[in-house]
Amino acid sequence: MHTPICDLLGIEHPIVGFTPSEHVAAAISRAGGLGVLGCVRFNDAAELDEVLDWMDDSTDGRPYGIDVVMPATIPAEGAAIDLDQLIPAGHREFVEQTLARLGVPPLPDGSRPTDGVLGWLHSVAREQVEVALGHPARLIANALGPPPPDVIASAHDHDMLVAALAGKAAHARSHVAAGVDIVVAQGYEAGGHTGEVASMVLVPEVVDAVGPGIPVLAAGGIGSGRQVAAALALGAAGAWMGSAWLVTSEYAALSPLPAVRDALLAATSSDTVRSRVYSGKPARLLKNRWTDAWSDPEAPEPLPMPLQNLLVAEAHQRLMASGNPEVIPMPVGQIIGRMNEVRPVADVMRSLVAELDDTLGRLGGLR
Ligand SMILES: Cc1cc2nc3c(=O)[nH]c(=O)nc-3n(C[C@H](O)[C@H](O)[C@H](O)COP(=O)(O)O)c2cc1C
Repeated sequence: MHTPICDLLGIEHPIVGFTPSEHVAAAISRAGGLGVLGCVRFNDAAELDEVLDWMDDSTDGRPYGIDVVMPATIPAEGAAIDLDQLIPAGHREFVEQTLARLGVPPLPDGSRPTDGVLGWLHSVAREQVEVALGHPARLIANALGPPPPDVIASAHDHDMLVAALAGKAAHARSHVAAGVDIVVAQGYEAGGHTGEVASMVLVPEVVDAVGPGIPVLAAGGIGSGRQVAAALALGAAGAWMGSAWLVTSEYAALSPLPAVRDALLAATSSDTVRSRVYSGKPARLLKNRWTDAWSDPEAPEPLPMPLQNLLVAEAHQRLMASGNPEVIPMPVGQIIGRMNEVRPVADVMRSLVAELDDTLGRLGGLR
């Protein structure tokens, strides 16, 4: 199935896969989609540079993209230590008490506490963009709206397309006015940061709002070829998928913990929640004893981005290391309910494309 977005991005299938894992991203690109590497986890620009070198060598000359999380408004910044001082003591006590109540052990001896996701800081995201501009990435996507005008201009100078996620038609319109080439319409069902409008309503709304010159990728709730076909039927140029790749064999290179895999495989479509616990902005996560603790009427309100992640960063490390699938802190969308076995990326892509073709054939036969 070839659509105009395939020509624009230089890919075979209209399927774009966001993932924090370079192994998954490279496998998506090799399988004929566009793998987009989430860069937010790279606090160190040199490490990202090495990983992009690896991507350049591991994608068989096929295109790939990168994704940053650059807030549209720049929060007060400083060294992590300054930001730390903005975190109220009561919030820290709540986190410690909750970990104790959930029976979460301290970090194993020798593990270094994480600094938190500094990629949510504007300055760090900018460094990531600088690194990416030195690589032949085809697309740069921003999770939180259009990147600043100079970043868009530099990307275009380097022959990179710019995409931005939108959860509302009005946001999509302003992204396009800011110079974005592709809009990712991200519905309520999606994993990670997400708005309040479901994909079925949002996608055609965004397609109509931006007009025929701007391709729209549908995101949120896509995990099968039938859902890719539905995205095309809604007017999207293709699909942008995130959660489905979490249960691929390649993902284990980034997250080898059996508790994570078990939690994802066991989750049903009802086992996610939209919450500010992870980053300070509403994001869909696995619903479990950790997220439930924050819904308690006695729990404090999550802090704004980027403070909330700095608050919970070490707790998240401990929850992950605890080996308990019931407390895993994990962004994931409702489609996780259909992801019930671990498969290689190439198999997932083959099934998506085969079911997409079958569906279009079936629909073409209806008159
Ligand atoms: C584990 C995970 C992490 C994510 N992190 C980011 C991110 O850093 N930047 C971003 O633009 N989107 C992020 N997302 C959202 C995805 O890009 C994608 O839009 C979303 O997963 C699509 O919905 P789906 O989960 O139903 O496939 C993340 C999603 C997941 C599941």
